Amino acid sequence: MIRAIRTDDCASIAAIEAQTFNTALDRGRLLTLMKMRAFCGFVDDTNIPNTAYRPNNPDMSSNLVGYLLATIIVDEAEILSIAVSSDHQKCGRGAGLLGHFLAYIDAQDVKTALLEVAADNVSALTLYHRHGFAEFGRRPSYYKRSDGDCDAIMMRRLSD
Ligand SMILES: CC(C)(COP(=O)(O)OP(=O)(O)OC[C@H]1O[C@@H](n2cnc3c(N)ncnc32)[C@H](O)[C@@H]1OP(=O)(O)O)[C@@H](O)C(=O)NCCC(=O)NCCS
Repeated sequence: MIRAIRTDDCASIAAIEAQTFNTALDRGRLLTLMKMRAFCGFVDDTNIPNTAYRPNNPDMSSNLVGYLLATIIVDEAEILSIAVSSDHQKCGRGAGLLGHFLAYIDAQDVKTALLEVAADNVSALTLYHRHGFAEFGRRPSYYKRSDGDCDAIMMRRLSD
């Protein structure tokens, strides 16, 4: 189930970040990010309890399998990171997180959503295209890798 992010999610998110990205956000940077007024985030938690969240109840522990981190400034949103843990990918969770976020910003009348993605990231590009994002710019050779440089593609989704 998708729910709003909490500060006690940072360790789980940092673990997925480390598993996924070369430039992973660690727990400290995540906490700093979450303190920003513009911050907005959602997690996919497979352990959502039926009752209200109580931090001291051990039965209420979470099991995060994915997250989306973003900022929203006035009528513009920027997706900073989206990831699903490797053992839960290709099950619709990324689409669920992105769809949830886009419905949220649409309800807030946020007109523009932006993100950046590596040109060789087929799964992410597929996900973004399916959700109405289109390329509007490129940063050539932005990602430096041992097996060669890769462009960054800047994508935008404009609401109606
Ligand atoms: C990108 C990512 C979030 C997608 O999450 P996911 O849960 O695996 O994706 P979903 O199962 O929701 O699939 C979404 C769409 O992408 C497609 N897709 C997913 N993985 C794919 C792959 N490896 N190759 C091609 N298409 C793929 C699906 O077919 C689906 O399209 P559909 O609606 O036509 O069926 C996930 O792969 C991930 O965490 N990757 C590593 C982190 C990352 O690259 N994040 C993006 C940084 S910009």
